[in-house]
Amino acid sequence: MPSLSRVLSLDDFAPLSRRHLPRPVFGYVAGATERNASLHDNARAFAEWAFTPRVLADVSRRSQAVTLWGREWAAPFGIAPMGMAALVAWRGDIALAAAARAANIPYVLSGSSLIRMEEVIAANPDAWFQAYLPGDSRRVEALVDRVAAAGFGTLLLTVDTAVLPNRENNVRNGFSTPLRPSLRLAWDGAIRPRWLLGTWLRTLREHGMPHFENSFAERGAPILAKNVLRDFTARDHLNWEHLALIRRRWPGKLLVKGVMHPDDAVRAADEGADGVIVSNHGGRQLDGTASPLRVLPRVAEAVGERVVVMLDGGIRRGTDVLKAYALGARFTFVGRPMLHAAGVFGQAGVEKAIALLMAEIHTDMGLMGITSPGAMGPALLERVG
Ligand code: FNR
Repeated sequence: MPSLSRVLSLDDFAPLSRRHLPRPVFGYVAGATERNASLHDNARAFAEWAFTPRVLADVSRRSQAVTLWGREWAAPFGIAPMGMAALVAWRGDIALAAAARAANIPYVLSGSSLIRMEEVIAANPDAWFQAYLPGDSRRVEALVDRVAAAGFGTLLLTVDTAVLPNRENNVRNGFSTPLRPSLRLAWDGAIRPRWLLGTWLRTLREHGMPHFENSFAERGAPILAKNVLRDFTARDHLNWEHLALIRRRWPGKLLVKGVMHPDDAVRAADEGADGVIVSNHGGRQLDGTASPLRVLPRVAEAVGERVVVMLDGGIRRGTDVLKAYALGARFTFVGRPMLHAAGVFGQAGVEKAIALLMAEIHTDMGLMGITSPGAMGPALLERVG
């Protein structure tokens, strides 16, 4: 096992993960879609802004804690929902959830996860839940009721997956959902013995074949099967009526994830959402979608204080978090690095990732001359791209 002490930044996890995970699994986490244009733009958009720090500002009492709907969190970022985490890391969703709990940051359980939501919330009672909308109203209601009964207080509805994207990299790497048994898949696993023994075989032995546990109120398909089609219920008919239905049914906070257009953000606010996450799904859906950072100012201006505007996609540094805040975000999420960290190092890796990002934000705020992330604003940025 590589040494955690050699990991100095979030970017250090991916190369270790590449050596740890079977090729199809690594490709699933790290990859995006078609030419990866949106994936690359997510990073580039941050590089196009530079800071104009203030000096002699007495930053001795700075704090990055943020309050969302009356609840204080230790940092201005959380862990984004990521499907199939338990295929990547031993008990992946629980490793992520427990690390987030220890650090007091939000963790979002994906609806495409392989561990029952009731088990995950036992590990982190403050976890949030992300749902993809099941196809019909009856299933929507049953899922929402299950999420509420499990004890989740915040529900994210991901809306940028109306149809399945064209993830060529998965085809090239032999990744599919469910995974189809093949000689090649067996070989890819055999040459990654630590993952094979520590994650895959250990999971089979202790918990049986993983299934999609949380897509619906009832159990979904297994992760490895010769001919089962993933229960990807048609979603292309979904519309704002379905959001309204959920708003009526869901008593807790409701966030809409995957909003890119200011008009959609306004509509989400009109429908009673409490927050929107400006996101292009980490560049994994429609290739060529703008980077969330580029549209963030327009979205933030359009909704004002009506909903909490959050952002994910490409956040790897404390400086990225501060740039997002400067352009209108009131919270951020990090995806891939957290899952790479969980895969290679388990919960300790995720805790390290969180600690690294928090340390960077603490330093960056000091050097920016601010005492809280909310003090960032456009006046502290200069466009350089
Ligand atoms: C995701 N993402 C995602 N989003 C969602 O709403 N539900 C999901 O099940 C998943 N699954 C998923 C799996 C994997 C492996 C990745 C990498 C991403 C998208 C995720 O929540 C987030 O929007 C992006 O990952 C953010 O971009 P970065 O931080 O990975 O660049």
